[in-house]
Amino acid sequence: MSGPGVYVHFPYCTHRCTYCDFTLQTPRRVPGRRYADLVLAELALRGPAFSGPAASFYVGGGTPSLWEVAELGRVLDGVRGSLGLADGAEVTVEANPDQVDDAWVDAVRAIGVNRVSLGVQALHDPLLEALTRRHRTSGALAAIGRLARAGLASWSLDFIFGLPGQTPASWREDLARIVDLGAPHLSIYGLTVEPRTLLARDVRRGAVHVPGDEAQLDMLLTAREVLGAAGYAHYEISNYAQPGHRAAHNSSYWDWRPYLGLGAGAHGFDGAARWQNQGRVKRYAEALAAGGLPEAEREVLDAETASFERLMTGLRRLDVGVELGADWPRYADAVAREAAAGRLVVDGTRIRLSDAGFRVMDSVLVALMPGG
Ligand SMILES: C[S@@+](CC[C@H](N)C(=O)[O-])C[C@H]1O[C@@H](n2cnc3c(N)ncnc32)[C@H](O)[C@@H]1O
Ligand code: SF4
Repeated sequence: MSGPGVYVHFPYCTHRCTYCDFTLQTPRRVPGRRYADLVLAELALRGPAFSGPAASFYVGGGTPSLWEVAELGRVLDGVRGSLGLADGAEVTVEANPDQVDDAWVDAVRAIGVNRVSLGVQALHDPLLEALTRRHRTSGALAAIGRLARAGLASWSLDFIFGLPGQTPASWREDLARIVDLGAPHLSIYGLTVEPRTLLARDVRRGAVHVPGDEAQLDMLLTAREVLGAAGYAHYEISNYAQPGHRAAHNSSYWDWRPYLGLGAGAHGFDGAARWQNQGRVKRYAEALAAGGLPEAEREVLDAETASFERLMTGLRRLDVGVELGADWPRYADAVAREAAAGRLVVDGTRIRLSDAGFRVMDSVLVALMPGG
């Protein structure tokens, strides 16, 4: 499928977790209907610049499971009616365990959602408390059971490692439990201490200790080993899939394909320029009301930047890497040096990171950077 992916950002949560730096707001009442109207207004402006049908649809957040399913359904119908949605397109919604009851699962399936990505994060209550999550392990396990029984085409679980108090040994135990859950797809992120968060303040004060970079890399390598042995392909830095369950929508980012980003704070890319929308819903709405695109930033990429970014995102695909094609001469010398050092594997004009290169990905990228 070669059409664009459609991403809709849902910028509301019940509260802000201490580690989270995403674009979101925490109103007492989420204005779901009005927000759907805004997204549909933006779709009317941006849709004509993209040729459909869309290959995938993804609602992320924030907490999209707080959106009334009927409103999400209106937005999905809007995409069906404008760009169109390819047969068999992957339709994903992110959810927090608190909202995933049987009625919610039935309702999202009825509007055409065929994949759910659940934010589990950890399987120990003290870790969930440290992350200021509202759900507890028992709630996450109940939600996972519902997804497993729902007859979805696929489902995915999000976890974070490198948490305060987590050790390589306790992470190894957690991975064994994660394998037992039997999810077709897993997204597993190393904790990033984002500068503007409460977590960062606590780390600076010494009130919270998080594992250092070395320990985090060890945990990532443990995940790769344990999940690999359980039949998961480590197909992108933070993503693991059983056969046939790689995330189609996210792959469109790594493949450098255009995607239509809608909603407050959403990013989009049309093949030549990328943009980020206004993050505050008020500003986003004002721009739409004035008949303009609700953008905070737009960047038209020059050939050199576009080429290097395509390479960077492509190298995140650990097993297939990136086909340099016509860009080959730009990188040939640096690729030869990195390959000789055992950090890149070269197959014709396709390159990928070796195991050794994966451990030092940042320095490989610096070595490949034009003028680097
Ligand atoms: C923006 S969240 C949206 C999903 C949902 N609201 C949730 O939190 O479960 C997407 C994923 O990013 C990950 N994430 C968010 N902040 C992170 C951070 N500071 N470091 C590592 N992973 C993070 C979490 O695993 C989360 O599930
Ligand atoms: S629920 Fe998810 S998006 Fe919302 S604040 Fe927490 S981590 Fe961020």
